[in-house]
Amino acid sequence: MCKLFHKIAADFRAARDRDPAARGWSGAVEVILSYPGFHALLLHRICHCLHSNFHIPVLPRLLSQLTRFLTGIEIHPGATIGEGVFIDHGMGVVIGETAEVGNNVTIYQGVTLGGTGKEAGKRHPTVEENVVVGAGAKVLGNIRVGHHSMVGAGSVVLKDVPPSCTVVGIPGVVVRQKGKRILACSSLNHQDLPDPIQEQLGQLEQEVEDHIKRWLNRVLEEWKTNESQQLHHSEK
Ligand SMILES: CC(C)(COP(=O)(O)OP(=O)(O)OC[C@H]1O[C@@H](n2cnc3c(N)ncnc32)[C@H](O)[C@@H]1OP(=O)(O)O)[C@@H](O)C(=O)NCCC(=O)NCCS
Repeated sequence: MCKLFHKIAADFRAARDRDPAARGWSGAVEVILSYPGFHALLLHRICHCLHSNFHIPVLPRLLSQLTRFLTGIEIHPGATIGEGVFIDHGMGVVIGETAEVGNNVTIYQGVTLGGTGKEAGKRHPTVEENVVVGAGAKVLGNIRVGHHSMVGAGSVVLKDVPPSCTVVGIPGVVVRQKGKRILACSSLNHQDLPDPIQEQLGQLEQEVEDHIKRWLNRVLEEWKTNESQQLHHSEK
């Protein structure tokens, strides 16, 4: 019970520390009364306790669905959530049964920590401590996002991410590791993608041009030969 209160207090502090809008005493009251992420985590802590410690059937799942109804955040009672986690805004967040979320993780609205639909057993991601998962990002399958990494908003991550990395795009690609750029991001510039039809048309145009040039040269050569032959005959 003591541990439960400790975790709830840590979630409260996380919301106060990481949301610049939660300032002063009014901020503290706002977190308690109007932060769906805080409410969802509080109720999840109770659901998880009923599910994993007391092995009570059905009730934890019903409570988690009620939480979803109230906050827009769906966390399966089996999911393991560390201390000091902050779910900002929260609407549309889904966290699967076998997901593990480390301490001090920040999760924005629309994030899915889900399965790919192809696995059984441990089929949801493990997100290590101090990770930030950007709005709308999907982290799918039994993969591991290393500590202190950042998942860009809207990314779809399907493979392990090493620690202290920034991963962005669909599918997610590591663009920074320990602060250093490790991929020429111009390859992510979708405006500069090669156009195969344009390339083929260009090739065809070049071939037709070469063909016409060869044909003209041949005609010119033949004409020159005829001219010189006629000149030769007339001289005779
Ligand atoms: C990924 C993120 C954390 C930035 O991390 P960072 O390590 O500081 O990385 P940078 O900003 O230097 O970006 C690295 C490259 O990835 C690109 N990038 C950044 N975020 C991206 C995203 N979400 N999707 C696609 N590309 C992205 C950048 O354009 C940059 O490319 P460049 O080097 O060609 O300019 C940040 O962009 C992000 O998405 N944060 C989530 C914030 C959020 O969800 N807020 C919701 C508030 S309600």
